[in-house]
Amino acid sequence: MDRALDEIIGAQPVILKTIMPIQWFPGHMNSARRQAAEALARVDVVIEVVDARLPAASSNPMIAELCRARSRPCLKILNKSDLADPGTTAQWIEYFGRQPGVTAKALSCRDSGEARRVPDLCQSLAPHRSDGTKPLRMMIMGIPNVGKSTLMNALLKRKVAKVGDEPAVTKQQQTLELGGHRRLTDTPGLMWPKIEHDLDGFMLAASHAIGRNAVIDEEVAAVLGDILLARYPEPVLARYRLDSVPDGVGLVEAIGERRGCRLKGGALDLEKAARILLTDYRSGALGRISLESPGSRQTMLAQAAAQADAPDADASAAAS
Ligand code: G4P
Repeated sequence: MDRALDEIIGAQPVILKTIMPIQWFPGHMNSARRQAAEALARVDVVIEVVDARLPAASSNPMIAELCRARSRPCLKILNKSDLADPGTTAQWIEYFGRQPGVTAKALSCRDSGEARRVPDLCQSLAPHRSDGTKPLRMMIMGIPNVGKSTLMNALLKRKVAKVGDEPAVTKQQQTLELGGHRRLTDTPGLMWPKIEHDLDGFMLAASHAIGRNAVIDEEVAAVLGDILLARYPEPVLARYRLDSVPDGVGLVEAIGERRGCRLKGGALDLEKAARILLTDYRSGALGRISLESPGSRQTMLAQAAAQADAPDADASAAAS
């Protein structure tokens, strides 16, 4: 099922408008860009890992931009595809496949057999590096929590020390030999997502890619609830044995009632209810879910553009 995002926003304008925008860390983008540009000069293929449940929101546009500028092929891995809606993932593969220099593949890197297909895929994108005289140099990039370490561990058949995703952590770039004349470098710097739309921020927070300390679970769960009710109402209502709920806030409240989430004084514990919904979505307990499709993304971008062009209602009122 793929209902357009305007239905989500159209149905729940109050929630999306009243929730505070998520805070993130744009200051790190410049140094990440510099490090990535330097590193790209020494690689043959870039492996960009994104979350298959929200492949556009979890992409960093800087990566595609740098690959184009340096004429490096990009293997875009839609990871965690075991959690995503297969039909929507197929739409995304087609969508990204139309972008110049990009080859898109859906994988589940938790399955190490699937992950080990990646070097061969990279080799096919750099045929000039296949005669055995020069090594194939690959670099993994992507925002936090999309599965980069999981992929590296699977390729190396051992656990590589995970370097922190927190902004303050300095990252030592690692280059590792995979054998067979293949070399893998991990992400060259902190790749925070470039959040141009609030909804992207909420989708990223719901999927645990950002905001472990920067977001409020109740707000994220309310927006996630809106998206789920618009895109996958049946499995979501069935999971909590509900007939209907008006919106995402209503869903969180109903989960709280159903699961007996109460504070000491007897009021609903909405934080606990929100965490139930978030945990169920993150673990796949709600089924295979994609938060966005190429079509819904198009609608969101069109709406954002229309909003930006519209005269400011407050300013007009003040002027008259
Ligand atoms: P990163 O290096 O890009 O930051 O990501 P990392 O490999 O640490 O993976 C983040 C989380 O995603 C891990 O779960 C990992 O097990 C999970 N993961 C990675 N690849 C896949 C996949 O293909 N399918 C599924 N279902 N999960 C995958 P975690 O440590 O439990 O973190 P969290 O999910 O609680 O945030």
